[in-house]
Amino acid sequence: MCGIIGYTGNREAGSILADALELLEYRGYDSAGIALSKKDGVQVIKCAGRVKELRKRMQEAKTDAVCGMGHTRWATHGGVSDVNAHPHRFGAVTVIHNGIIENYQELTEKYGLNGKLVSQTDSEVVAAMLSHYYQNDPYAAIRKTVLKLKGTFALAVMFDDIPGKIFAIRNVSPIVAAKIDGGAVFSSDVAALSAYTDRYFVLPEFHIACFGKEGIELYDLSGEAAEPEYMTVDWDTSRSDKGGYPFFMEKEIMEQPAVIRETIQTYLKDGVPDFSEGQIPDSVFRECKRICVIACGTAMHAGLVGKSLIQSMIGIHVDVVMASEFMYNDPVVDPDTLVLAISQSGETIDTLEALKFAKKCGATCISVVNVKGSSIAVNSKYVIYTCAGPEIAVASTKAYTTQLAVLYLLTARMAMARNLWDGARLEGYISELVRVPMVVEEVLERKDEIHHLAGSMLGAKDVFMIGRGLDYSILLEGSLKLKEVSYIHSEAYASGELKHGTIALITRETPVLAVVTQEKLKSKELSNIKEVQSRGAKVILLIKGEDLPKEDYSFEQIFKLPRMEDEFMVIPTSVVLQLLAYYVSADKGLDVDKPRNLAKVVTVE
Ligand code: M6R
Repeated sequence: MCGIIGYTGNREAGSILADALELLEYRGYDSAGIALSKKDGVQVIKCAGRVKELRKRMQEAKTDAVCGMGHTRWATHGGVSDVNAHPHRFGAVTVIHNGIIENYQELTEKYGLNGKLVSQTDSEVVAAMLSHYYQNDPYAAIRKTVLKLKGTFALAVMFDDIPGKIFAIRNVSPIVAAKIDGGAVFSSDVAALSAYTDRYFVLPEFHIACFGKEGIELYDLSGEAAEPEYMTVDWDTSRSDKGGYPFFMEKEIMEQPAVIRETIQTYLKDGVPDFSEGQIPDSVFRECKRICVIACGTAMHAGLVGKSLIQSMIGIHVDVVMASEFMYNDPVVDPDTLVLAISQSGETIDTLEALKFAKKCGATCISVVNVKGSSIAVNSKYVIYTCAGPEIAVASTKAYTTQLAVLYLLTARMAMARNLWDGARLEGYISELVRVPMVVEEVLERKDEIHHLAGSMLGAKDVFMIGRGLDYSILLEGSLKLKEVSYIHSEAYASGELKHGTIALITRETPVLAVVTQEKLKSKELSNIKEVQSRGAKVILLIKGEDLPKEDYSFEQIFKLPRMEDEFMVIPTSVVLQLLAYYVSADKGLDVDKPRNLAKVVTVE
């Protein structure tokens, strides 16, 4: 977590850093700070709270440097306070850090730092070690320090007596960088560079970069010069601003028809799914005996939909495993297993570690990621990029639906590779998939109706969501969305499971949202709705088309979803659930894009 930005050039650095930190706030927003390199040393301004607070502090200080670095924090070690905010200074060294130094206590002892550190952070220990090793050679100090660190880090370092230069090194935690006119920029995320350039490179792990007016020098730890491998951002940079919407979440929900369409079209060649650009041979799809999806949160929920599609249409066994639990449950993963690692950021440490473990077990790994050159992408044999563009709101929306689009395409390619479908079936499937963006547009046009539905949940303390099969998978995601942005306790239940315990929680005060989109499950789902209604629950029904039950059910509210083939109802229904969560949060006056305690990119285990 945490966002890092660095700038050296001809312009006033302070405001550049503050603007970038605002863009990076989605990575953590407990505190913010900057360090400015001046002729007479380094000036640090930092405080607990958002970048807004930092800007106030900056106005009170003179910030006229042209070289500086900034940090926005998601607290791990040490509470949210001014002193724990980054940058940290020790002697003549100033450091910002993203990641976790696991052995910081051991290092505190070893370097006699007890009583000398002012913060409770693991990061200040790094500043102290650098200061210990620094004797006019920044590279030697950095090398000696990082070789003693255990954990993950993206570090940016300034030395008081080297004005105009910033040094950076990383292990696992991301740093992307670019040379620009008159200097250089680096950050945790390409989105923060896009104001300056569309060409960037991923700082290789354990390489030291030195950023200055002349550009960037790059060395490996043995001192050998290295060449950066530049890539081009193919994101529309306008997607990094709110585009007139009050929140990124709303904007990103509204972008879904376009980004789902783009994702589908990117991987359709001559009307059929084709992953040959990513060099994925059909043998991968044909020869695997089982599939294991590893992912976290929303990405894992996408995996659950993928499991239903693949198991029902291809007949291969699919496990979906929370990446954070993967290694600890003796997973059955071997060379016959195809592992799908799904991640928006491509940096989620749990998913990355699970992926590395799966690779060691000999599995073939395909990652489905949104961010080019991210760690999960780099560590996978094959990569399929979703075309969601930058997703800034902490709550994932368009990344999820583009992940689903990829999973629909993968299912069809697998069917082709295994000769399972005839031409007519493939054609029918693809033409329904291509219709998804249009159907999502229809849903979005009815946003006022959905806003009205949200009214039924606004005052609720708990909301239950019930459905079966694919409807249940969708609701797991819908429920996460509601919890995450509205702080309403919400649970999704497979509706058949309710009467095995949970139904005890149903009262007149509990809104129950029921989703009914699967023909084969409809009658059972409707019976389960009756069961909760008999216990007083107010039911909000999302149902496919005009398929309303004949009997009198007296629903609190009903939303008729546009019709698609059953297996394709997932995306339009999910969009309704995203909007519901969004409106509840916005109407409660919450900070929709930055819910409390969260960060967009989870780089700590
Ligand atoms: O970047 P990733 O897709 O790997 O992130 C995984 C989860 O942290 C993420 O989906 C999280 O659950 C979202 N905030 C949910 O909206």
